[in-house]
Order: sequence, then structure tokens, then C-alpha cells
Amino acid sequence: MKISVIGAGNVGATCAEYCAHHELAEQVVLLDIKEGFAEGKALDLWQTAPINNYDSRIIGSTNDYEATKDSDVVVITSGLPRKPGMSRDDLIATNAGIVKSVTENAIHYSPNAIFIIVSNPLDVMTYCAFLTAKIDSRRVFGMAGILDTARYKAFLATELNCSPKDIQAVLMGGHGDTMVPLPRYTTVSGIPVTELIDAEKLDAIIERTKVGGGEIVKLLGTSAWYAPGAAAAQMVEAIVRNQKRIFPCCVWLQGEYGIKDLYIGVPVKLGREGVEEIIELQLNEDEKALLRDSEKAVREVKDALDAMNLFA
Ligand code: NAI
Ligand code: 2OP
Repeated sequence: MKISVIGAGNVGATCAEYCAHHELAEQVVLLDIKEGFAEGKALDLWQTAPINNYDSRIIGSTNDYEATKDSDVVVITSGLPRKPGMSRDDLIATNAGIVKSVTENAIHYSPNAIFIIVSNPLDVMTYCAFLTAKIDSRRVFGMAGILDTARYKAFLATELNCSPKDIQAVLMGGHGDTMVPLPRYTTVSGIPVTELIDAEKLDAIIERTKVGGGEIVKLLGTSAWYAPGAAAAQMVEAIVRNQKRIFPCCVWLQGEYGIKDLYIGVPVKLGREGVEEIIELQLNEDEKALLRDSEKAVREVKDALDAMNLFA
């Protein structure tokens, strides 16, 4: 197995570290456009191998895609992160150009790879990679739902003073303030969360989850990386180990949930073929309305991207 992570910044390096530490591949390649940066990160990470006891080789490259040749999975984290006061959508024009050129290069050297996109604005950058790669949509999808769900679970675990391992939850929609956490599908070791937390507190947790990325941007002056990097690597793991795990991922919908021609987050089954199944939940009317709002928000960014004619 070979995994390439494009963008050796905060998220990319964290993702590469998880992949190597968990021995998800014989080779993990980190590539960045900044001279020497990926090589430096790769060398530092490789020097953790004797301490953390793993064999996976980590290789760094400055923009030489030959190094990524024949990757099984490519993770795209290249792009600008959010700065304070910046929305994810502000990033659209710059990051669209980056994701397009990176995808062109990566698909050229790894035509059979599965692509996981992380760059923001996530839903529309995933669409960008799909338009560029021109491969089956089951092999191009985005990471956001695992991160957003992890934030929701972490807040619940704090509130309940229980192990985060015992919380099961699903969240849908775009990676933005209109994401749709689903308390009806949230349990703590099988106990409905609504029996453990009063409605007001649960609402506050849901609202905090929706702006969870922004909370960290305000604290750090840049966006989060530990949880995003680990979340992307968990998707890589599901693929390379053919685990058939069910995660919320940003995927191309063709009528599921009444949504057509849009990348947006829904629960899917991930395995060696990529997105092996899109799972359609029976949403109630309130949940459907929230998903429609999220669809509208993502579609506005997609329309803005389409208007730029980058893919003509
Ligand atoms: P960062 O600034 O630490 O790293 C980005 C790296 O991309 C930099 O090292 C930069 O040199 C590199 N880069 C830029 N253009 C490139 C190109 N053409 N080819 C190769 N490398 C290139 O940023 P960070 O924090 O790692 O975030 C990366 C992206 O992920 C951002 O767009 C951020 O908004 C997004 N993000 C998405 C999340 C999600 O849930 N989907 C969560 C967290 C971040
Ligand atoms: C996050 O949610 C900014 O998308 C990034 O942390």
C-alpha cells in the first residue's frame, strides 16, 4: 500500500503521522510546494518510528509528483487555512486553483487512487477534485463529517462525564454552520441521548458543534489540525483495511435525500472500493428542512465556483 498526502502543513503532517504510526501503508509520501518543507516534516516523522515502533517509511517531496506514483490513496490537504474573521467560503477562489492543479498532478501519477479531500470550503473543493480527476465519484470524497461528529461527541462526553468511546452519533449536511447534527440518532451505549441530557443543554451542544471550527480559529489564529488530521486518516484506514465502516462523508449525491448533482455530507459505507454504499436515513420533516437549508448553503458556493469557469 502507498498513501500520499498533498500539503505537509498542520493537517497533512498530522494525517501522515497517524497513517505511519498505524502502519496503514509501506510508504507514506508527504508532498508540499514549499521548498524543503515536506522533506523536513517527513524526516522528523521518520525519526519517531524507532520511538513509536512502526515500519512505514515516510518520504517527503517538494512538488515532485513522481514520488507519489501508484498511490492507493491520495489525501489532499493543500490550501490556505481559515484565519480569524474569514469564512470557509472566503477561501474558495485560491483553494479551487490549488486543488485543481494538485488533483491534475496526482491523478496523472496515480490513476487508480482513491482521493480524500480536506481543503476548504470542503464540499465544493471535493467537487473541484471530482471535476478535475474525471473518475467515478465513489473514488473522490471529502472529510468533514467525522470531524464534526467527533466535536459533537467530545462535547457530549464532557457534559455527561462519560467516555467518548460510548457515544454514537451521526451528523449530515455541508461542512459549515448549517451542518445538521441528529440528536434522534445519538445514543450513549444504546441509551438515547435525549434521556440523559435536557433539551436546552443538548441544543447548546449542537450550536457549539456547528461553530466548532470557528471556536478553534479564534483560539489559535488558524484552523484545527489534530482532529482533522486524525479524521482524514481514519477514512484512509477504512479504505486500506477494507473495514466497511459507516461514517458521514462528503459524497456526490444523485437523487439520494432528494439532492442531485451536489457534494454534501451523508452517512456512507467506506471500504477498499471507496464509497461502497450511500445510506439513506428516514429523516423527519424538521430534519429534512435543516438538510434543505444546508443544501442551499453548499449550492450557493458551488454556483459561485461554477461561475468562475475554471473547468470549462
Ligand atoms: P497549512 O497552511 O498548515 O498547510 C497547508 C499546506 O498546503 C502548506 O504547507 C502549503 O505550503 C501547502 N500548499 C499550498 N499550495 C500547495 C500546492 N499547490 N501544492 C502542494 N502544497 C501546497 O493548513 P492546514 O491547517 O493544514 O489546512 C489545510 C486545509 O485544510 C485548509 O484549506 C483548511 O481550511 C482545511 N481544513 C479542512 C478541515 C475539514 O474538516 N475538511 C479541517 C481543518 C482544515
Ligand atoms: C474546521 O472545521 C476550519 O474546517 C475547519 O476546523
